[in-house]
Amino acid sequence: METLDQLVQQAAADFAAAVDGAALEQAKARYLGKSGSLTERLKALGKLAPDERREAGAAINRAKDAIEQALDACRQALREAALLAQLAAEALDVTLPGRGGAPGGLHPVSRTLERVEALFGSIGFIVADGPEIETDWHNFTALNTPENHPARSMHDTFYLEGHDDVLLRTHTSPVQIRAMQEHVARHAEREHMPELRLIAPGRVYRVDSDATHSPMFHQVEGLWVGENVSFADLKGVIADFLRKFFETEDLQVRFRPSFFPFTEPSAEIDVAFMSGALEGRWLEIAGCGMVHPNVLRFGGFDPERYTGFAFGMGPDRLTMLRYGVNDLRLFFEGDLRFLSQFR
Ligand code: FA5
Ligand code: MG
Repeated sequence: METLDQLVQQAAADFAAAVDGAALEQAKARYLGKSGSLTERLKALGKLAPDERREAGAAINRAKDAIEQALDACRQALREAALLAQLAAEALDVTLPGRGGAPGGLHPVSRTLERVEALFGSIGFIVADGPEIETDWHNFTALNTPENHPARSMHDTFYLEGHDDVLLRTHTSPVQIRAMQEHVARHAEREHMPELRLIAPGRVYRVDSDATHSPMFHQVEGLWVGENVSFADLKGVIADFLRKFFETEDLQVRFRPSFFPFTEPSAEIDVAFMSGALEGRWLEIAGCGMVHPNVLRFGGFDPERYTGFAFGMGPDRLTMLRYGVNDLRLFFEGDLRFLSQFR
């Protein structure tokens, strides 16, 4: 039978030859397993005489320690080899040039909204908002829009299935009602109510789609209610805004008589440039007028004492004019070839 030293050497050699963890564990079993060669020798100790047994037992234990050490060393070596292999396989070449994340930018319509907010902010208009899922009452009834008005038809408005009283708001005008009611409630105790001056930018929805109409588009509502607000104020504010917004005098603005149930008198505001890509083409950018007495009353104001003007602008159209874009739908298709031109 081989000596214990030979056994240790052979075990160390076997372990070293193992190519992976599984092979190493198999090799271990041959020596230290239930019927491994070292285990067999331990079992055989019982047959020895007591004084021989002590010495032989100690020698076997030394051999066992040596084998376990060899095993640990090989395990460690295999782990390191595996790690090195993984590092080599997953190596990153840090010297390669970067891919370069394209810089992001604001959507052109968002830029317009920021400009509109800043320009109106400079003359004391606060920014208000309201829900996009609006009640029929705020969107139509409180805006003096009768039951049989065509805007209320299924062809023009998105209604919500199973909810008769709510819809996707068709304009930002319902924010007028919400803001007036809040303003009046907040200042109810005062003899002289402060003026209400606001803009309300946001998304609106209509069953509409062509080069200048999109089913989802933006509006900016404007409202100024006070004791002596007139149509002249409306014209002044709008003309001033448009000159500042487009940064040009090369611009024609016309107020075209029109009708809205919630204003009286009413007008549409059209704009045309005298030069450039859109030269000579009139584009309607807003509806406006003096707030109808019924609407003031729904908002909580006494129409005998207060007057106001309101307008509803299309910032998408303002953006088309400012950047010379001829199809409004481009703004909502998310095509980076288009959008990245505005970075
Ligand atoms: C209104 O929505 C009124 N609420 C505006 C108003 C407010 C009048 C306050 C008086 C007082 P109108 O439907 O005309 O009006 O829309 C206003 C503006 O929104 C239009 O001038 C246009 O610039 C823009 N607009 C309307 N429909 C679309 C559409 N489908 N796509 C893009 N812009 C649109
Ligand atoms: Mg209109």
